[in-house]
Amino acid sequence: IQPDAENLALWAANYIAAKIRKANPSSEKPFKLGLPTGSSPLGTYRALIQLYKAGKVSFENVITFNMDEYVGLPDEHPQSYHTFMWQNFFHHIDIKKENVHILNGRADDLEAECEAYEQAIKDAGGIDLFLGGIGPDGHIAFNEPGSSLTSRTRVKTLTTDTIIANSRFFDNDVNQVPKTALTVGVGTVLDSKEVLILVNGHHKARALYHAVEGAITQMWTISALQLHRKGIIVCDYDACAEL
Ligand code: GLP
Repeated sequence: IQPDAENLALWAANYIAAKIRKANPSSEKPFKLGLPTGSSPLGTYRALIQLYKAGKVSFENVITFNMDEYVGLPDEHPQSYHTFMWQNFFHHIDIKKENVHILNGRADDLEAECEAYEQAIKDAGGIDLFLGGIGPDGHIAFNEPGSSLTSRTRVKTLTTDTIIANSRFFDNDVNQVPKTALTVGVGTVLDSKEVLILVNGHHKARALYHAVEGAITQMWTISALQLHRKGIIVCDYDACAEL
């Protein structure tokens, strides 16, 4: 528990950088990092960029897998998760383009795209650390309430709540928000050796309560973290209001 979002971001960035350093990755044995989008990880990305600039971490031998992507948005769309990741993180560090994996929401065959993504994670040897945020309804990636806790990468219809929440990035116009997305499953996240979840703000307090003190249920998909042997939640005081 950290006092505020800034300290939360510093804690998470230092933790991730230390993990990468400790793994001492090489091209033969890269570090595999799962990554989210949204406002929650922005401070952590900024702090990681600072650590990189200070020579305290390198992403040269890091392979990344992003959690999700909207269906139908071109990569270059300002609100695509491709754009988000390159603007807010990848352009500022020494990651190799070929080591970045983001689901293609414009693939002709979306199911094949999802299967290939699961296979790529498997071929890489699994994910070492999955960083994530949660929605106010406790969803992880785009695993909306009701998602199976053993789900794998697939196409998911977004709930009205998520469409409304994310419309703030689309001129507050719900009609512009894609109605479906590709997302890793809850099972995909739980397969990671370690999971690190960032939760800040009052609007996440209820979700954090369900994540930590509630029952494990597909209605609050983050609650599945209770099943993980190394699930870490970093949160701020505001998010703890209901604990
Ligand atoms: C989206 C993303 C999630 C993210 C959630 C919360 O739905 N698919 O991965 O955790 O938004 O976003 P924010 O961090 O902006 O609150």
